[in-house]
Amino acid sequence: MNTKEFDDRLRKAAERAESVLKSHLPAETGQQKEIFEAMNYSLMAGGKRLRPILMEETYRMCGGKQDKVIGCFMAAIEMIHTYSLVHDDLPAMDNDRYRRGRETTWYVYGDAMGILAGDGLLNYAFETALKAVAYVDREMCGNEVSDSAALSDGEKLARLRSIWRAISVLAGKAGAFGMIGGQAVDIMAEGRKQEEMTQEQLLFIHEHKTAALIQAAMMVGAILAGASEGQVTALEKCAYNIGIAFQIQDDILDVVGDSKELGKPVGSDAQNHKQTYVTLKGMEQAKTDVEELSREAIRILDGFEGEHEFLSQLILTLIHRSK
Ligand code: IPE
Ligand code: IPE
Ligand code: MG
Ligand code: MG
Ligand code: MG
Repeated sequence: MNTKEFDDRLRKAAERAESVLKSHLPAETGQQKEIFEAMNYSLMAGGKRLRPILMEETYRMCGGKQDKVIGCFMAAIEMIHTYSLVHDDLPAMDNDRYRRGRETTWYVYGDAMGILAGDGLLNYAFETALKAVAYVDREMCGNEVSDSAALSDGEKLARLRSIWRAISVLAGKAGAFGMIGGQAVDIMAEGRKQEEMTQEQLLFIHEHKTAALIQAAMMVGAILAGASEGQVTALEKCAYNIGIAFQIQDDILDVVGDSKELGKPVGSDAQNHKQTYVTLKGMEQAKTDVEELSREAIRILDGFEGEHEFLSQLILTLIHRSK
């Protein structure tokens, strides 16, 4: 795949993620209108849409066909990711005023509405993922959107089981055993800035705050496509490598990035006296490790028979990403 073909495919994948997300936005009406506005403000501010793209591409690689179920989960994971950013930027956390090229949600709507918009997005993510059930089982939901007429009872049960497993993975990886746990340790470490952090502690933070949602993206894609247990485990490992590399590169960009291009401030980590991969291991080692982890991720993908050229190239481009 040449660069132009890759760029075209990436643009189309991002557009698909964007349009799926748009189709699930809450309507901005009712007395609580402002919270819907704040939720949509952060969701539609842009962003690379990496997690839904990884989810859909993994789904395809594992033999999944285009349908509404995967769309519900693509929207859900981007909502969870976006909520994590809305809360991450709050004054009580990283205290940042700029995100995705705009003023942050709390800075525009106030702290209280920033907290509530994050809460709203997290809950709405699961409401959205659960809509997937309605596409498989009309009776279960009394919903006219179901394609269930075409499915046998056995197929229906298998699909409902995969939705249940996908929701369990998403909930687990997003929660206190996953992303929230990583954010908690990240914040606790800030208070202990005198002490040198060990590499093990830093890897715990990176694995949980960042890799966990990337793991959820790829595992959910695989589960919904009907992949085997062994394949899901291999993808969990693959996404671990992508996720750690992604956060190391995020730490690098906080030092050498361009705020305009990133759409968020640079120097935020230094301002918060955070120990990062760069402060711990140095810039050169950080860059080498991003490369090595990404190559390891691709080696795992190469164990899959399904087409994954685009996915591999995407991982390669993340090594040198500037936003
Ligand atoms: C930012 O994630 C937070 C991290 C986990 C490093 P992204 O870099 O994917 O942010 P968006 O979605 O493109 O804004
Ligand atoms: C946060 O890491 C990752 C999240 C779970 C939101 P950072 O605090 O480094 O993310 P940025 O740099 O603000 O996007
Ligand atoms: Mg943070
Ligand atoms: Mg931050
Ligand atoms: Mg950062």
